[in-house]
Amino acid sequence: MSAQRKDDHVRLAIEQQDTRSGINQFDEVSFVHHALAGIDRPQVSLDTTFAGISWQVPLYINAMTGGTAKTGVINRGLATAARETGVPIASGSVHAYLKDPTCADTFRVLRQENPHGFVIANVNATASVDDTRRALDLLEADALQIHVNTAQETAMPEGDRSFGSWVPQIEKIAAAGDVPVIVKEVGNGLSRETVLLLRQLGVHAADVGGRGGTDFARIENGRRPLGDYAFLHDWGQSTAACLLDAQSAGLPVLASGGIRHPLDVARALALGASGVGASGVFLRTLLDGGPEALIEQLTNWLDQLAALQTMLGARTPADLASNDLIIHGTLRSFCADRGIDTGRLARRSRSADTLHNATGKAQ
Ligand code: FNR
Repeated sequence: MSAQRKDDHVRLAIEQQDTRSGINQFDEVSFVHHALAGIDRPQVSLDTTFAGISWQVPLYINAMTGGTAKTGVINRGLATAARETGVPIASGSVHAYLKDPTCADTFRVLRQENPHGFVIANVNATASVDDTRRALDLLEADALQIHVNTAQETAMPEGDRSFGSWVPQIEKIAAAGDVPVIVKEVGNGLSRETVLLLRQLGVHAADVGGRGGTDFARIENGRRPLGDYAFLHDWGQSTAACLLDAQSAGLPVLASGGIRHPLDVARALALGASGVGASGVFLRTLLDGGPEALIEQLTNWLDQLAALQTMLGARTPADLASNDLIIHGTLRSFCADRGIDTGRLARRSRSADTLHNATGKAQ
């Protein structure tokens, strides 16, 4: 069942890439254009640091797959592209291996093809500390992702129906202290309240994994003969909404869910993310054009992100978090209801300027 599910996920995720045209709230985030803000391209770096982790790029290939022959081939392609571009990569859930070690190679290929890269092992929130150590060992992983996915499990025909153990389990795993622990949603988003709880639990970073891209409730519902969980489609908060909600929550945040192009990456960084992940869009490229096409896409995205930073005057990805942003439409209503000050976001570069001018005068 588990192996068949992995192949179903790939097939249904690709179907969504081809057919879905839902609202993506990143379209409701725009940069204020300052015509003289630009800097010189050599001044721009893509380096990012969070939770004691340093990456040369603020982009990663997010968790997808492993566990079957077909998904092992996909992992080889993803790992090759990660190696050639220096982009960090997360595995799919390693539970298939924990239940059946004969599929180890379909995951291990992520490390074999990418011996010096940053590799993240992915487990679910019922994993024991021993399970997570086996997952980390399998991939010689640099960090651990724990996915939380109550909407997916609810729509999944054979899914979990008991979620009460997740909080204490996450706390135990974080306390084991082997590597940095990132908790991620799979496309329904992390609320501010959840991010604050994760901080209390000792987790090192949160990947808000919001709505707007691959929709796992829809995927699982597609595996139900009656499709009777359609009311869970598009459940949760968008990635842009989650990032706004999590501002100043005191925990580093990563962004994923519905990232379509380098402008979405820049928007997510400007909304406070330390790194930005994508899955479905990279899977589509890999399956269409092989590793070469994915290497080209990743290279272009990084190049275009650097171009955007040059135009916007952001020497580093973190600097984007001082750029002025306008929040429109439904996202603006979300901010009003959640007490998020959109006016401050629209004018935030002024305080930096005032500081800069004052320093200039003092010199
Ligand atoms: C996923 N995703 C996922 N996430 C996770 O934490 N563990 C997993 O095993 C998987 N499996 C998986 C398979 C496939 C085929 C896809 C496309 C995705 C979810 C993924 O990491 C991400 O959170 C969502 O796909 C939303 O991002 P995109 O696709 O909109 O960029």
